[in-house]
Amino acid sequence: IRRPPRSTLFPYTTLFRSCIMKKLVILMMSVIAAVAMLTAGCGGSDKADKNAEKVLRVGTEPTFAPFEFQEEGSKEYTGFDMDLARAIGKQMGYKVEIQNMGFDALIPALNAGNIDMVAAGMSITEERQKAVTFSDPYYTSGLIVMVNKDNTEVKSIKDLEGKRIAVQIGTTGENKARTVKDAKVTAYNTNTEAALELQNKGVDAVINDSPVVGYYLAQGGNKTAMTVGEVMEAEQYGLAVKKGNDKLAGEINKALAELKKNGEDRKSTRLNSSHSKISYAVFCLK
Ligand code: ARG
Repeated sequence: IRRPPRSTLFPYTTLFRSCIMKKLVILMMSVIAAVAMLTAGCGGSDKADKNAEKVLRVGTEPTFAPFEFQEEGSKEYTGFDMDLARAIGKQMGYKVEIQNMGFDALIPALNAGNIDMVAAGMSITEERQKAVTFSDPYYTSGLIVMVNKDNTEVKSIKDLEGKRIAVQIGTTGENKARTVKDAKVTAYNTNTEAALELQNKGVDAVINDSPVVGYYLAQGGNKTAMTVGEVMEAEQYGLAVKKGNDKLAGEINKALAELKKNGEDRKSTRLNSSHSKISYAVFCLK
């Protein structure tokens, strides 16, 4: 068989094939590129939108252990409320961002739209209900009087008449202190300052939430301080959202109910994150 010389046939077929192939390849590539661009475009913007909506900005005041605090040397917000906020956020599909501010700045921040939810051991009161919408209650608390151990005079709140009382600003503890006749009430930005002032004998007593005082004493505060009298004012903690944001409140309540159910049968590990032992124990006890 006589073949045409390589030099004539081969370059021709190669040229022909490569020409068709080139066109095909270009066509396929542009189809792929177009599809890729379209899907990337959709997916991309979709994702961006979702992320944008899906951040839950949570406000707290973190001198309220074991509910919200920062462990020594750590910037992370830890404690029961923080675990709860993160667990609720996860349940609802939000990324949780925690913001630190003064306790008395939390409600204004909600109403200014700077945060979406308050998780700060905030007691549900009639007064506050005028300004914000609360979730279902998630913890039952109360107030207690703390004095120095060497104080033999003060046995209950009744003995605080005319005395110096330290409280955290904007709290139910402050309201309570202001009902004591002739008391000199000093409202501090943080609970840390109030407790220090008692230790330094700058005041005669602190009025604060009883689980927080209990935790403070158990963590070493009992070297110098103690509680007197009974727990006062049964109070319930609620998560707060902007007044009238029933949609978010509804989502929160749904997540809360789910977590409570799981917490009660002790199978949930969802609350078992950062400050797990305390948080989990507190949640299960209630
Ligand atoms: N339960 C009290 C109140 O609602 C005190 C809350 C203080 N919380 C805090 N994170 N410092 O007024």
